[in-house]
Amino acid sequence: MRIDIISAVPDLLQSPFAHSIMQRAQQKGLLEVKVHNLRAYGLGKHNKIDDYQFGGGAGMVMMIEPIATLIEKLQSERKYDDIIYMTPDGKRLEQGDCNQLSLKKNLILLCGHYKGIDERIRDIYITKEISIGDYVLSGGELPAAVLVDSIGRLLPGVLNDESSALFDSFQDNLLAPPVYTRPADYKGHKIPEILLSGHKKKIEEWRDEQSYLRTAERRPDLLEEN
Ligand code: ADE
Repeated sequence: MRIDIISAVPDLLQSPFAHSIMQRAQQKGLLEVKVHNLRAYGLGKHNKIDDYQFGGGAGMVMMIEPIATLIEKLQSERKYDDIIYMTPDGKRLEQGDCNQLSLKKNLILLCGHYKGIDERIRDIYITKEISIGDYVLSGGELPAAVLVDSIGRLLPGVLNDESSALFDSFQDNLLAPPVYTRPADYKGHKIPEILLSGHKKKIEEWRDEQSYLRTAERRPDLLEEN
């Protein structure tokens, strides 16, 4: 899968994909992430990418031409399944969206800044708008990093244990059960006895029960969706 990210602050996206699982996904050739500096497509001597909004009002608006030029350049090189704008007024991201997007081949993510982007970019190019939650960040870069991570880890072969993404919280609308590692007794804080029993089926039942109890306590809304 290939993901092209359009950003006015590309440095913000240097680290998130350079470590751990995202790094491994790229090294294995399963994921390709390209970050494009929008400034390089800016207008005039100063590579202008934003301007005052028509009608007045505080805050600069990202201009149409630099974004259009870059998107059209990318589109001339390959076909994109979706062009996604990261914005707080988009669809709130859920695991199901990540699952669906992980099946795509090529995606463009557009990171907004300032007051927003010229509405015509949305009209002409954007096929999906995604929010990572009901709060406003100063730009779309961190949301884009969240989206890439949530998709990238689902690509077949990225996680060592192929099945482990399936057991994540939210995959079946249940939160994950508690997990423990050594020592079994930390200053009197003992792990649940069942986990030392070696009884696979009982352990599985215990985990299912814990998932359910945790979901009922913390996110009863998820149980209503089941
Ligand atoms: N840009 C600013 N805030 C955002 C959010 N919550 N989700 C996606 N993009 C954003």
